Amino acid sequence: MTISRHALGVLSMTAVFMAPSSVRAADAERGLDLAERWCDSCHVIHQRDPGWHSGNVAPRFSMLTRMEPPRFRQLLRGGHGGIDAVKSLPDADYDDMLAHIKSLRPEEQ
Ligand code: HEC
Repeated sequence: MTISRHALGVLSMTAVFMAPSSVRAADAERGLDLAERWCDSCHVIHQRDPGWHSGNVAPRFSMLTRMEPPRFRQLLRGGHGGIDAVKSLPDADYDDMLAHIKSLRPEEQ
């Protein structure tokens, strides 16, 4: 069986038009803004935060780069860090924060 070039063209166009409109790329820069607001008090959120101090009791974000979306969302929806407002953020906000975390170079400690 041969598929004509034309048919392939139609198929790929269809795939583009069928993509749900809600699909968006996670935005690491926006994620950094969100992390500054919600997570900075306990976590070192940058690669090498010059403002590191012993009050940062939580693991640095650069140690959490292996985190996957389902576990990350579950953690924050559960009221992690005692921040109630974070429980009800839209998934896009979680995805952006995780994109920021994953943009860091992994560090063991
Ligand atoms: C009040 C302090 C506090 C705040 C605020 C906080 N965290 Fe944490 N976080 C911790 C501590 C302590 C740990 C390590 C113990 C644990 O896993 O609960 C941790 C662990 C984590 C982990 C690893 C969890 C795992 O299962 O390995 C992730 C991911 C994380 N935090 C993300 C965030 C994000 C994103 C925010 C901001 C929305 C945030 N945290 C805000 C204290 C905090």
